[in-house]
Amino acid sequence: MNTTSVPVIAIDGPTASGKGTVAHRVAERLGFHYLDSGALYRLTALSALRRGIDLKDEHALAKLAAGLPCRFVGEEVWLANENVTAAIRAEEVGNTASKIAALPNVRHALVGLQLGFRTTPGLVADGRDMGTVIFPHAVLKIFLTASVEARAQRRYKQLIDKGFSANMQDLLKDLRERDERDSKRAIAPLKPADDAHVLDTSGMTAEEAVDCVLQHYAEVKKSA
Ligand code: DC
Repeated sequence: MNTTSVPVIAIDGPTASGKGTVAHRVAERLGFHYLDSGALYRLTALSALRRGIDLKDEHALAKLAAGLPCRFVGEEVWLANENVTAAIRAEEVGNTASKIAALPNVRHALVGLQLGFRTTPGLVADGRDMGTVIFPHAVLKIFLTASVEARAQRRYKQLIDKGFSANMQDLLKDLRERDERDSKRAIAPLKPADDAHVLDTSGMTAEEAVDCVLQHYAEVKKSA
């Protein structure tokens, strides 16, 4: 099937900017599919950590990414026969994901899997390079951001709610390091696409951000 006419809304932004929640709700409101591309990097990271793969062994990591036995079932993420929805959210997994995401062959190995999510009636794709690399012709590109303090607060609450322990100072340090790594890497760095709408959600609720994205999408459809 030719899927190039299937509309894609690309939502990119730094870690803990709220893009997961916003992208998910936008997809729900429109009845679109949802791609959490960060989960693919996290799944690769979790698998690599468990197998004790050297994080500098790009070839082995790319091979692992290319053959990921992953499934998305509603809000659950599965790796082979295991529900890893909570496990991939651990900070160690996120940090490892950010490191291996800088490796060109790992990124390349995950491209086909991501493109496969583009099916009718539409897709909301969440990540770092959705609008710049994976779906450059997305009908709408949003770059969600928020101050590092607001993001650390949100991440703190998320972790505590999920029963993980968390420390604000460590979270701020981790977020700054991860931002630096994600935006300075040579390949597909975190940056808004030239035609993206930048949305600062520091003082917004998730619902306000969702409405804002939906308004932009309504305008896109009106002018199509
Ligand atoms: O969105 P997240 O925190 O779940 O993503 C985990 C890591 O994966 C993030 O630090 C950078 C990387 N990532 C990426 O490089 N490209 C994407 N499209 C999504 C995530």
